[in-house]
Amino acid sequence: MTPQSIKTVEFEKPNLAGAQNAAGASCVAHAWAKVPPVLSPDERQSLKARIRRLLKERNAVLVAHYYVDADLQDLAEETGGCVSDSLEMARFGRDHEARTLVVAGVRFMGETAKILSPEKTVLMPDLDATCSLDLGCPADEFAAFCDAHPDRTVVVYANTSAAVKARADWMVTSSIGLKIVEHLHAQGKKILWAPDKHLGSYIQKQTGADMLLWQGSCLVHDEFKGIELDLLRREFPNAKILVHPESPENVVAQADVVGSTSQLIEAAQKLDATEFIVATDNGILHKMRMAAPGKHFIEAPTAGNSATCKSCAHCPWMAMNALTNLAEVLETGRNEIHVDPVIGRQAVTCINRMLDFAAAQKRNVRPSADLANEQALFQGIGPA
Ligand code: 13P
Ligand code: SF4
Repeated sequence: MTPQSIKTVEFEKPNLAGAQNAAGASCVAHAWAKVPPVLSPDERQSLKARIRRLLKERNAVLVAHYYVDADLQDLAEETGGCVSDSLEMARFGRDHEARTLVVAGVRFMGETAKILSPEKTVLMPDLDATCSLDLGCPADEFAAFCDAHPDRTVVVYANTSAAVKARADWMVTSSIGLKIVEHLHAQGKKILWAPDKHLGSYIQKQTGADMLLWQGSCLVHDEFKGIELDLLRREFPNAKILVHPESPENVVAQADVVGSTSQLIEAAQKLDATEFIVATDNGILHKMRMAAPGKHFIEAPTAGNSATCKSCAHCPWMAMNALTNLAEVLETGRNEIHVDPVIGRQAVTCINRMLDFAAAQKRNVRPSADLANEQALFQGIGPA
């Protein structure tokens, strides 16, 4: 397969300037405006104590993403919840016995939890916490795209609405997308991929699969700059470069490891290097520093000649999750995620396919002692 066989499509998304949320405000500005103020150490301590108590009283568990506030990540871990990438968040929420899941992340993560566990109550600190990939893939336009290509297997990234997932054959996350597309390609399937164009193109190049790509992107990762990263590498020649695959091609091309948030943290821990340049949301640095104490982490550049920093390597929607609104939803039960049951029943199929595939992969993985060498550990993950 030649690179020319990657077809781009007519949808140039996201048009964030024009995107409006329910309240009618421009969504990115609206998100930054809703980020709660920084708290004093005393306020943080007292809110954390209140949240610990409320989680117990409500039989609730906190499921957090690595990009949210460090206090929320720590609370999730110390109270028996989890902090992880989006695949593990879905799995953890589904398997946990708690009747209430509090998802600290963005809306698609809350919706996925609800679709997998319709009988549970799923709360989120702020229901306006969305994602540029989700916003850039409206369900009606996506349905028209699918209708126009009925011969293709529809694979969607987790960062989409429940209605988009309802139309898909497979859902994937960044940790397993490559393996799933490899599997589908081996079966001779042609793929319709949405919405992230960078992740789609990375997977296409790695697998050689015939993929028709929706043209969405992540507001945060789209801002990493290849030219400036190249300059930074020269300043730190011994640094390993860790890149999330939502980043542009000229950034991914310089990576030592390309992977999901969990895979990047694992790489920081296990690779024999003391310096790392990290191209993903800077919320991840909290966990990276804990997982690899003594190592030095440098943020990949979002600035430079061509910069238009809308996020400066931090997701405005992830930043909306804070101790204040977390305590509030636990206290009041407000901000519950609802998914139309009909859509939920359609969407669960593509999510379960991914989870079943991931479980089968896990069973086939050799014991961790065998994974000592870096080559084996990061097989399937790597530069484009
Ligand atoms: P992960 O699944 O790698 O955690 O990615 C989720 C995400 O939104 C990255 O921007
Ligand atoms: Fe979406 Fe990007 Fe934010 Fe992840 S970091 S939730 S992909 S906007």
